[in-house]
Amino acid sequence: MPQPPADRQPDGVPVDLSVTLGRLRLPNPILVASGTFGYAREMVDFVELCRLGGVVPKTITPQPRPGNVPWRTIETAAGLLNSIGLDNDGLEAFLRVQLPFLLDCGAPVIVSIAGADQREFVQVADRLEGVPGIAALELNISCPNVSHGVDLGTDPEACRSVVAGVRGVTDLPVIAKLTPNVTSIAAVAKGARDGGADALTVINTCQGMAVDWRRRRPLLGNVVGGLSGPAIKPIALRCVHQVRRAVDTPIIGVGGIMTIDDVMEFLVTGASAVQVGTASFADPRAAIGLLDTLPAALAEAGVGRVADVVGTILLPGQATCAVPPVQP
Ligand SMILES: Cc1cc2nc3c(=O)[nH]c(=O)nc-3n(C[C@H](O)[C@H](O)[C@H](O)COP(=O)(O)O)c2cc1C
Repeated sequence: MPQPPADRQPDGVPVDLSVTLGRLRLPNPILVASGTFGYAREMVDFVELCRLGGVVPKTITPQPRPGNVPWRTIETAAGLLNSIGLDNDGLEAFLRVQLPFLLDCGAPVIVSIAGADQREFVQVADRLEGVPGIAALELNISCPNVSHGVDLGTDPEACRSVVAGVRGVTDLPVIAKLTPNVTSIAAVAKGARDGGADALTVINTCQGMAVDWRRRRPLLGNVVGGLSGPAIKPIALRCVHQVRRAVDTPIIGVGGIMTIDDVMEFLVTGASAVQVGTASFADPRAAIGLLDTLPAALAEAGVGRVADVVGTILLPGQATCAVPPVQP
């Protein structure tokens, strides 16, 4: 069935899909998540890249990384387990080979960066400062697949320090990507806020493991990996809820988003935008499909702007919210 243009509700009424996250303004709230969309070049035959709210390419590190030994992905009952291990060609190759294509694709490009320690994060951010066209930096302080990869994202003070360090060398909006693999994601979110983060991406993958009991071996070469896909959506929603209550910093929700109802659940819970990850492996056009159906969902919610639905969840004891109740 033909879809209405992404900026119109089904009855033709214009809808404002743009979102503002601190200093970052995006044309719509549907982004694609780091590590699940390559460097976008692979998708150009399938996806009108310029329609996306943002593209977050695979995380880059100062030096090339070969990643972990195979197997690196395992399908699970309701998700995907991966231990890619930040396989990437390094910062300079990214700048030379990948970034020019990305910047040409027409969608805002949020460059995902990682380093072994605070110094390396700052080094990468410093190198990217002044490169024209980049919309923002996303700090991957939450990859569970590299040695010590989550340390900076599990300790609130380390998180504050790395965000502040990056902040000190760049004028770009800085987004901290948080891990769910902590006791208190709210405490880490406060660290990111105190370091000056413009926005928080919530969440990276949840640590998991797959076992071949007959061979008595783990299936992943790295033994443990990160679980993504529908299995983690309830965890991601819980994290968005807790972060929303802890800080005022805008949130980009990610984790298990497959359908437009998933998108709306994240927005209502407090995310200002979302990223689509594992769903793109099943259908490279998943994010575009969600964008096409967003205006109708906003109409059903009784709003004409994305911002008007963000954080409107009614918790126990709350009778009303800013948005009028939806008529059945
Ligand atoms: C194969 C694979 C590779 C990933 N690589 C990265 C990465 O390089 N950097 C990053 O920040 N997140 C990475 N992620 C995490 C995703 O960006 C996302 O946070 C996570 O998968 C949860 O979203 P989803 O359930 O929609 O996939 C990766 C996920 C998968 C499945």
